[in-house]
Amino acid sequence: MKKFALISFFVALCLECVAVVPHSVKAAKGWLFYESGAVSAPVVCRVETEVPSSAAGHIVLENGDSYINLKFGKVKAERHVLTLQAVQDNRHEDKLVVSLFDNGQMVGEPFSCRKPSGSWKINVSGKVSPLSLNVFVPDPNHEIVVPKLDFSEKADKFIDDLMGRMTLNEKIGQLSQYVGSSLMTGPESQQFSDSLVRRDMMGSVLNATGSKALRQIQEKYMTESRLKIPLLFGMDVIHGYRTLTPVPLAEACSWDMEAIEASAKMAAVEASAAGVHWTFAPMVDIGRDARWGRVVEGAGEDPFLCSKIAAARVNGFQWNLWDNDAVIACAKHWIGYGLPQAGRDYAPVDMSERTLYDVYLPPFKAASNAGVLTYMSAFHDLNGIPASGDQEMLRKFLQNEWGFDGFVVSDWQSVIQLIAQGVAEDGKDAAQIAFNAGVDMDMIDGLYNAHLHELVDEGLVRESDIDDACRRILRVKYSLGFFEDPYKFFDEEREEKTLLNDEFISSARKLACKSMVLLRNENQLLPLSKNTGSIALIGPLADNRHEINGSWRCRAEDSDAVTVLAGLRNKLGDNVVINYAKGCDFDGEDRSGFDAAVDAALKSDVVIAVVGEKALFSGESRSRCHLGLPGVQEELVERLVATGKPVVAVLMNGRPLCIENLNNTVPAILEAWFPGTTTGDAVADVLFGDYNPSGRLAITFPRAEGQIPAYYNYKRSGRPGDMERSSTVRHIDVPNAPLYPFGYGLGYTSFSYGKPFTDKESYTRRDTVNVYVDVTNTGARDGEETVQVYVSDLVASVVRPVMELKGFAKVYLRAGETRRVKVSIDPLSLGFYNADMDYVVEDGLFDIHVGHDSADYDTTRIKIEN
Ligand code: NOJ
Repeated sequence: MKKFALISFFVALCLECVAVVPHSVKAAKGWLFYESGAVSAPVVCRVETEVPSSAAGHIVLENGDSYINLKFGKVKAERHVLTLQAVQDNRHEDKLVVSLFDNGQMVGEPFSCRKPSGSWKINVSGKVSPLSLNVFVPDPNHEIVVPKLDFSEKADKFIDDLMGRMTLNEKIGQLSQYVGSSLMTGPESQQFSDSLVRRDMMGSVLNATGSKALRQIQEKYMTESRLKIPLLFGMDVIHGYRTLTPVPLAEACSWDMEAIEASAKMAAVEASAAGVHWTFAPMVDIGRDARWGRVVEGAGEDPFLCSKIAAARVNGFQWNLWDNDAVIACAKHWIGYGLPQAGRDYAPVDMSERTLYDVYLPPFKAASNAGVLTYMSAFHDLNGIPASGDQEMLRKFLQNEWGFDGFVVSDWQSVIQLIAQGVAEDGKDAAQIAFNAGVDMDMIDGLYNAHLHELVDEGLVRESDIDDACRRILRVKYSLGFFEDPYKFFDEEREEKTLLNDEFISSARKLACKSMVLLRNENQLLPLSKNTGSIALIGPLADNRHEINGSWRCRAEDSDAVTVLAGLRNKLGDNVVINYAKGCDFDGEDRSGFDAAVDAALKSDVVIAVVGEKALFSGESRSRCHLGLPGVQEELVERLVATGKPVVAVLMNGRPLCIENLNNTVPAILEAWFPGTTTGDAVADVLFGDYNPSGRLAITFPRAEGQIPAYYNYKRSGRPGDMERSSTVRHIDVPNAPLYPFGYGLGYTSFSYGKPFTDKESYTRRDTVNVYVDVTNTGARDGEETVQVYVSDLVASVVRPVMELKGFAKVYLRAGETRRVKVSIDPLSLGFYNADMDYVVEDGLFDIHVGHDSADYDTTRIKIEN
């Protein structure tokens, strides 16, 4: 068998099992595929795929204009031959029974493969001839997942039977979500009511929590509704339920997929113990504009890193679905929401198709490959098409092309907002547009309940589409086991034991440490000695329990949080005198606290200034134009520096700030973001050297707002460069380089890199490119380095980015230790969308940059040729 590298295929067809080596490789609609050529094939087909441990996820079998979408279980050892065998299901004309063999051993139970969209049809009773069997490779960087939803016959039978007993109105009811508490995460809306319950007009409730309260709501529904279809409870569990981990952007700076997955899992365990079934997370929108307040909720600017994190978060939230200690995830906001004009949340988005495909779609695909069960539409319009009415992207692309078999929920009132967007005349029109586009569930508008029946009667909405949406939602409920036990998530005793337990607190503290990024450390001011005589602790965030939790605090209570003052006291006990003064507030011009702060500094050996944003200066609808330290905080810090005492600035903020002045005056700057419940303890761990900072920026820090959008993987231009008075792509008043580049971060040790090299000079698309570099810890402390690998395509058929992250590895090195680090790159990941919008990996030279961050690296070169 011919060996291909990361994703390699061997297609053998038919009863005879004749091996057919793919005779052509081409690309279409973003899928690379290997084509077997036309063959005469009976119904039974076999596809053999040889994969190493980390590859493959979907295989799409295509027959003419139809396809089936198959997902694999996790591959455990080094190299496997996976065989998919599809046979006709004798009882169902429209189904195949598919078995998966891993090195000849059957994996799991055979499963029934259904059409992923309305148009799929395969003639299974006779011969399919001629059959051209194509094996598509959707995304070489994804995780492999077991199918999440229950497509068993038993499930189908149950759902068919239930739907057979449902009226049209009751089916529409399943498509409607209402608010179940006073917690409004958007404008006022219709709430859960007795009348809706009695008429079976609800499929889901959001923002109600606590197992006692949720049990009561469920009981009411199970008692008073006719059909007793359990409700699905959703909530924004964004970075923890009660125990808050750092805000998502901060977590992304850890570049630690295991820790990020564990954090999502922890949130899932807590939320589900409190009765929540479904989180509206992860937000997987790329964030290139620091003005946009929602960058705090994402994983930064890079498609590769964001994709890894999207998968980790989905895997964490959905870690143990079908039991009662995981939650369904929701990838949001579909699609292109991350680039609103001028960075104002909800604003229109104009983006080229190429940028959409190359940059904004990959994290959503990664979430899909990880088996995310729901997507959320959005408030904006993408190139003039409202995201919540975009049939092309929702129904045709997400459902049909990607074969997504979960369901799509609208964003908060994003259906009725189609009127304000000027594409719908009234609520009925809005319901028609959104539903026909593929928004299966209406978040709180009540418009589906109000209008879909009438729209069906008028022939403007197809009843079969309502059946499809209802079936998608019921399948999720069925798969969660709701029909066996609608109360399985409501256990008050478990809730009591689970929330805020010691293990969670300790994990949250570790992750908070990992997420902090040391931006500056002149003369190794940090770490501070625990024997420092006295410390001045200054700033509006120094003794603040509320703001340190950041936005989307879910059910965290202020009293849970450890302030920086408390953290320092916990760490230092009575050994060190702490002189605390707030100094000033976040906004306003009040400088009356400056003198007390300066006095505190003057009588101390070192100053720690904890400054930054309020929690709600970032997050939903919290966009800002001025990205300096808000209010008079910078002035306060300048006064502290003027005392001549060494000053450490600890920043807390939900976005990159423009802090060039601070950088020029303050010797040590620690970006702590919003670290969550354990803030003070984690900040103390880092400042006093119990944790050697290892975070690396997942988002660029611009020098000035005018540089925005500032991101490292910008496209090449005809006049590159940044020489004074030159006619190049530059501003005349601010250098091109950002203040701190993507991937940047310091620690309390230093690392040196040898010359990077690869195992070969020339590769085919099917080889793995192994990149090696020797890294030495040249400092006196043990520490963790993140080796980053970027690639530049030297000549391509379209203009490509100057460089793109394609791999990284975290390595922990003892002081003085050298280790050879290997990072593997799949050549298929070096592709892009060409002029015809086909995904292609073109032959040619590629520079491989290996180093500490996107601006500090050494380079080697490879060739890709077929
Ligand atoms: C609006 C936000 O855009 C979305 O992300 C969130 O999940 C919903 N509100 C529900 O609170």
